[in-house]
Amino acid sequence: MRVIFVCLGNICRSPLAEGVFRNRLAARGLSTDENDGIPTDSAGLGDWHAGSAPDKRSIAVAKKHGIDITSQRARKIVESDFENFDFVVAMDRDNVDALKKLCPTQFADRIHLLMSFVPNSKIREVPDPYFFRDEESFARVYAVIADGVDGLISHLDAHHALGNKSSRG
Ligand code: 4NP
Repeated sequence: MRVIFVCLGNICRSPLAEGVFRNRLAARGLSTDENDGIPTDSAGLGDWHAGSAPDKRSIAVAKKHGIDITSQRARKIVESDFENFDFVVAMDRDNVDALKKLCPTQFADRIHLLMSFVPNSKIREVPDPYFFRDEESFARVYAVIADGVDGLISHLDAHHALGNKSSRG
């Protein structure tokens, strides 16, 4: 199984989602190795920040939670990502709409809204924090993303036997 998180710029939200997901896998002794793990990535719909490290506010809030995302580099999503990743997990509805336009129709059901994995959540989207000024906003964004990622992990556990060798490949 392969998972890619997607937002607009790939510097604020999706790098956090990737970092939290990797952290949760590591806590369970699961790797993101190409061959015997769960390959995990993130990408943006735009290429404005391609090659850049995550936003320093995302780096800071991740660090507070013991997660190092400094080695991530932004990239734009490409069509082959829809073939290569089983779960394409978007942060907001605009992301979903843009992804659907790029996605070959046979892979359209791979696109999901992150918060759809949290049953009955009142929060349906991860707010775009790029133009927020305060660190508190990033703390809130982190909390939403962490909830969403935990919901995704529960979904993968329940429906895709996360952690069993049979779920990989
Ligand atoms: P992200 O935030 O989608 O969470 O990475 C943004 C980053 C950059 C821009 C917009 C949103 N931008 O317009 O450059």
